[in-house]
Amino acid sequence: MQERILIIGNGGREYAMGRVLAADNRVAALYFAPGNGGTQNLGTNIACNKPAEILDSIKKLNISLVIIGPEAPISEGLGDFLRENGVRVFAPSMKAARLESSKAYMKDFVSQAHIPTARYVQSSDIEEIYHFIDTLTPPVVVKASGLCAGKGVIIAQSHKEAKTCAKDMLSGALFGEAGKCVVVEEFLEGYELSVFAICDGNDFILLPACQDHKRLLAGDKGPNTGGMGAYTPTPLCDEALLTKIRTRIIAPTLKACKEQGEPFLGVLFAGIMVCEKNGELEPYLLEFNVRFGDPECEVLMPLLQTPLLDVITYAIDGKINQLQCAFKPLYAVAVVACSKDYPYKSSAPAPISIHHFNENLGHIVYAGVEVDSKGQLLATGGRVLLAVGMGESLKIARDNAYEILGHISFAGMQFRDDIAHRALAL
Ligand code: AMP
Ligand code: GLY
Repeated sequence: MQERILIIGNGGREYAMGRVLAADNRVAALYFAPGNGGTQNLGTNIACNKPAEILDSIKKLNISLVIIGPEAPISEGLGDFLRENGVRVFAPSMKAARLESSKAYMKDFVSQAHIPTARYVQSSDIEEIYHFIDTLTPPVVVKASGLCAGKGVIIAQSHKEAKTCAKDMLSGALFGEAGKCVVVEEFLEGYELSVFAICDGNDFILLPACQDHKRLLAGDKGPNTGGMGAYTPTPLCDEALLTKIRTRIIAPTLKACKEQGEPFLGVLFAGIMVCEKNGELEPYLLEFNVRFGDPECEVLMPLLQTPLLDVITYAIDGKINQLQCAFKPLYAVAVVACSKDYPYKSSAPAPISIHHFNENLGHIVYAGVEVDSKGQLLATGGRVLLAVGMGESLKIARDNAYEILGHISFAGMQFRDDIAHRALAL
C-alpha cells in the first residue's frame, strides 16, 4: 500500500523519522506540520496548528497515516480527536499520555503496579510535603507534577532548599499551573538509560537502549537542557539488565494501562536510573514519556534495518509481536549543535555554513533552522542541528560525528565535546 504520511512537530526527532520514511518507496507523500527549514527538503511543510486545521489538511491532502512527535499535542488529545474522525494515528490517547503529563499520576500508577521507582510523596499540601522532605537524606528531588518542557525537576542540596522549592512550586511562582501539585522523591544514585518500547496496546518490542546527555556542558555540568547528544547501542545495558527493564517496568505498565481501559499505542519512553544494589545492576523508573526522545530518536532511526513504516503499521494494526525488528550492526552518535544562549534565551538568527563531507561518516539532522527568502539556511532555534556519526564501533561513530561537526559553523554555535563519554571510558 502507498502511504501519504503527515508528521506533527518541528524538531530533530521529526526530521529523523521523516528522513527514513522519505527513503521508503512505499511512502508516496510526506508532510510535516509545521516542520522546519530542513524537513522541507524531505517533504512538504504545512502551516497548521489547531486540531481542526490539521484535520482539514489531512482530508484535503488525502493523508493515510499521522505520526505525532511531541508530547504537547499528544497530551492535549490530538490523537484522540483525529482517531474519532477516522484517521490512522500513531500516538497514545490523551488518557494514556498522563504517564508523562502528570508526574503525580505516573508515580501513583507505577507504585500500584509494583514497578521499582524512587520513594515519593505527591501532594498539594505543603505540610505533607515538608514532613516527607524531613524523612529524606539530601539531596532531595522536587518535581512539578505537570508538563514543564523538561525543566520542572530540581535537585535540592538541603532540606531548606527543597522546602523553598516546593513552596515556590505550590504557589505557582516557579512553574505556574504545572507546579500546583508537587512530587518529592528520594535521590537515586546511578547512571541513566533511555529505553523505548513500541507498543500496540497489548504487546511491545524494545529498541536498543540509548544514553542522552541532559546537561549543557562537558563533564555533565551546567543547566539541564532538552538533551545535548545521544548514542546507541550502549554497553551500559546488557541483555540481563534489558530483561529486568522489560519484565519489571515495561510489561507491567502496559498490562496496567490495558486493565484501566487505556491500552497504550505508540512509543513508551522509560527514563531509567540504573543503581548498584548488592553488586547487581537494578533499574528504577525515573519518568515515562509517551513519545520518542529527542535526541534519542536521531540515533535510533538510522540504525533501524526493519523499515520504520513497518514498525508503526504493525503497532497500529495490533500485531507488533509478529514483527521481527532488526537493527544494523552499527553504532550511532548524535551531537547537538545549539545556539549561543541556549537554554537560557533565544539567540538572533545566524546563517549556517556547511562544507562538503564524506557521506559515509553519517549525516546531519535539522532542528531549529529556517530558510530565508534567499535560500540561506539560518539557525533560529535553541537546538539547531545534530551531527549523526555512524560506525562499526562507538569510537568510530563518535569520531565521525565530530568530524561532520567540523564542517559546520554558525555564529555562537556551542556543543559538548564528550558525547558517549561514559561508554567510551569503559
Ligand atoms: P525527570 O524529568 O523526572 O526524568 O527528571 C529529569 C532529570 O532529573 C532526570 O533525567 C535525572 O537526571 C534527574 N532525576 C529525576 N529524578 C531523580 C531521582 N529520583 N534521583 C536522581 N536524579 C533524578
Ligand atoms: N531526551 C529526553 C527527552 O526527549 O525528553
